[in-house]
Parts: sequence; C-alpha cells; structure tokens
Amino acid sequence: MNKDKKYYIIGNWKMNPENKKDAKKIFGEIKKASQRRRSKIIICPPFVYLNAMYTGRLPKSLSIGAQNCFWKERGSFTGEISPTQLVDMKVEYVILGHSERRTLGEDDGLVSKKIKALLSNGLRPIVCVGESERDGDGRYLNFLESQLDTVFSDVVSAELDRVVIAYEPVWAIGKNEDDAITGHSLYEIVILIKRFLSRKYGKERGFSVPIIYGGSVSPSNAEGILGEGNADGLLIGRESLDPKSFSKIIELADNL
Ligand code: PGA
Repeated sequence: MNKDKKYYIIGNWKMNPENKKDAKKIFGEIKKASQRRRSKIIICPPFVYLNAMYTGRLPKSLSIGAQNCFWKERGSFTGEISPTQLVDMKVEYVILGHSERRTLGEDDGLVSKKIKALLSNGLRPIVCVGESERDGDGRYLNFLESQLDTVFSDVVSAELDRVVIAYEPVWAIGKNEDDAITGHSLYEIVILIKRFLSRKYGKERGFSVPIIYGGSVSPSNAEGILGEGNADGLLIGRESLDPKSFSKIIELADNL
C-alpha cells in the first residue's frame, strides 16, 4: 500500500441527528479521533448545526462541509442557502447532486450550475454520480459517462484541483454492509471516471482528481473498498453518526 496516500473520509449526516446537543456530542468524539491524521476528514452536518461545529480549534486534518448549496449568490430564493453564505460560515466542502436530492427533483443540469457557482466562490464540490441499477450489458456505464459529461460541462481545467468525485451507486446506499460494492467492481468504475477526466482535461490533471466511494460503507468493508477498489476515500452516511465506527474507519484508512 501507498503510505503517502491521503484518503478523504467524509461523513454525510443527512437530516440527522434530531437536535444540536447530539450533533455536538457526535462531533466532539469525531474531533478527538481526527487529531494528527494523515487522512482528510470532512463532516457534513445539516445547515442548522454548522455553527455549532466550530467550538474551539479544529484539528488540521478535519474540515466542515455542507450537504447542498444553491447556484445563485443572493436574491429571492426562499429556503435556499448560497455559496457566499457557506464561505461566511467557514465551510470548505459541499456535497452536490446526492441521489437523495436527485429524488427530490435535482437533475444533472442543475448540479452542473451548482458546481460552477461553488468553484467561483472558492468552495470545493464533492460531486455525486452513480447509476440506480445495473444491467448485464453495461448500459449503466453509458449512463455514468453521460452523467459525468453533463455535470462537468462547464468545469475548466484550472478548477479541477478543487473537485472531489463521489461514486455513489444508488442501489448500494443505505443498505446492509454486504450490499456495498466489491473492491473489484469499484475498480472498473474508478478506471471509467479517470478515463473520462483524462480525455477531457488531459491525463495529468484528470488522474489527480480524487475519486471516492459511498454506499453502505462500514468498518468491515472499508479496507477492501479503499485497497482493491483503488478509491481515494469514502463518503459515509449511517456509520458517520456512530463515532466509534467512524473513528475505526479513519484509523483503518490511516494505516493502509
Ligand atoms: P450510507 O449513505 O453510508 O448510509 O449508505 C451514504 C450516502 O448516502 O452518502
């Protein structure tokens, strides 16, 4: 294994936990586990808890992310949060195009606008892509390519070093740990994404974009996904709300 490799271990809390007290408790434990880590750890709580995450100094390896963002900087958009507001809250990373947002109506065109808006405001998008189901003749691979094509349509080469791609097959999200992708099968997708990026931006830039995996990651499958799957990190839902499990994954990634 490559001892110099820095993994991204990202927690997506979704619409959890139910109150700020619990959010602070979970975050406090994760903060302890994030001290002096090689990996980049990013916690993405609901917007309403962002402020509560900044009590005291954060370890260098720990950053705060958001789970979504609007593509305009200000104006009459009831209920939306703008990139400039997130910058003001010291947010660095933003998950975009998560499949749960796509179920609520977000499409690739909108995700593409959001990526552009984040990049122009100095934020770092964690761009989610992934097919809903797999078929035997590889149509899911075409689906994935066309998704990448649209969401990256306006991203220029100089912006690429601030992008993280999260491959999250919808069929693997929120399931049992045995339902996560196998390392072998993820490897194929990582190659597809790298090939897409190097065709569009050249090999050197294309290959430098971190490609992470999300979907039922747990301490028991994380190692295979990172190792055999050749992923640059993990986007973790459920297990990121359990500080013990999440810390175990951080430790595991640090020791790979
Ligand atoms: P999960 O969620 O780890 O609970 O499957 C991952 C995600 O949706 O980002």
